[in-house]
Amino acid sequence: MSAQGKPLLQLEHLSVAFAARGPDAGASRRFRAVDDVSLGIAPGEVLGLVGESGSGKTTLAKALLRLYKPAAGRIVFRGADLAPMGERALAPFRRDLQMVFQDPLSSFNPRHTVFEALAIPLRLHRICPRGEVSQRVDAILARVGLPAAFRDRFPHELSGGQLQRVAIGRALTLSPSLLVADEAVSKLDVSIRAQILNLLKDVRDSLGVSIIFITHDLHVARYLCDRVGVMYFGKLVELGTVDQIFDAPRHPYTRALLGTLEDELRGAGGPETFAPPGATGCRYASRCPHATALCVGAHPPMEAASDGHDVACHRWREIDFVRPTA
Ligand SMILES: Nc1ncnc2c1ncn2[C@@H]1O[C@H](COP(=O)(O)OP(=O)(O)O)[C@@H](O)[C@H]1O
Ligand SMILES: [Mg+2]
Repeated sequence: MSAQGKPLLQLEHLSVAFAARGPDAGASRRFRAVDDVSLGIAPGEVLGLVGESGSGKTTLAKALLRLYKPAAGRIVFRGADLAPMGERALAPFRRDLQMVFQDPLSSFNPRHTVFEALAIPLRLHRICPRGEVSQRVDAILARVGLPAAFRDRFPHELSGGQLQRVAIGRALTLSPSLLVADEAVSKLDVSIRAQILNLLKDVRDSLGVSIIFITHDLHVARYLCDRVGVMYFGKLVELGTVDQIFDAPRHPYTRALLGTLEDELRGAGGPETFAPPGATGCRYASRCPHATALCVGAHPPMEAASDGHDVACHRWREIDFVRPTA
């Protein structure tokens, strides 16, 4: 947490378990797609979550929005722990936590116009008097950079970038304090991507909303985020400001990611297998050039490498952390 005071949301030792997949997965075998992750997000902060495909980014996001029930840990938000809550108890918190997905088309009802997509949540949650819904829809469209004429269009009549603008607008209808954007620009062309990133920046600056920005693209994370958390195999392995992560990476995995910056990690493939339940040791040990018997034998705890810069590596002090030349 930066020196901005009280976090808006704090994850404490959060774990999410799924039934193991695959031919030899017994019915009772479970694995932790998110394993003992602790982190906080400040009001108005953009926190990036990076890591290759399958590292648990989406699962972490869905768990903190309570779309999944965590296996362990706490989700502290507005003084309450959301982790154990049932739907009734969660209801008052739901509108405060919103999500924007990678593929906006699938998240819209194809028979609803843009107006309806935005008006329905406004009416449902009685955000404003009925007579003001229309005005409010126009204001949201303006906020996300679309002309009012777009209110009569259907989702299939919009480009990817326009749809993502509407998706962001819809997420903002309920004035959330936290927006989770999961690979929200990954499918967009580079020029459109920059526009949507700028819109997210603008939304944060003008509304003070916190954003958890999930991406496998480190360029994008560097451009948009204040702080970045690096995930590997369900573990948070490093957390720091953008400058700390990109200019002074401490974890060998972060350094490997930065070394392959131009590959964007797309198609790099995730970890082949998950460590069996109860396995000890660093999950990166089998790929790490610096691993020792200690790394295989004991899981490295998160340690403060510098102010606000945390790393989970037994050897971070010993290794020569020169920034890899990309
Ligand atoms: N609903 C689910 N049921 C079972 N396994 C899942 C489910 N969702 C994700 N997983 C598994 O959890 C791991 C993390 O997935 P995910 O959170 O989607 O990673 P990321 O978003 O970083 O690509 C992967 O091994 C994935 O196959
Ligand atoms: Mg994902």
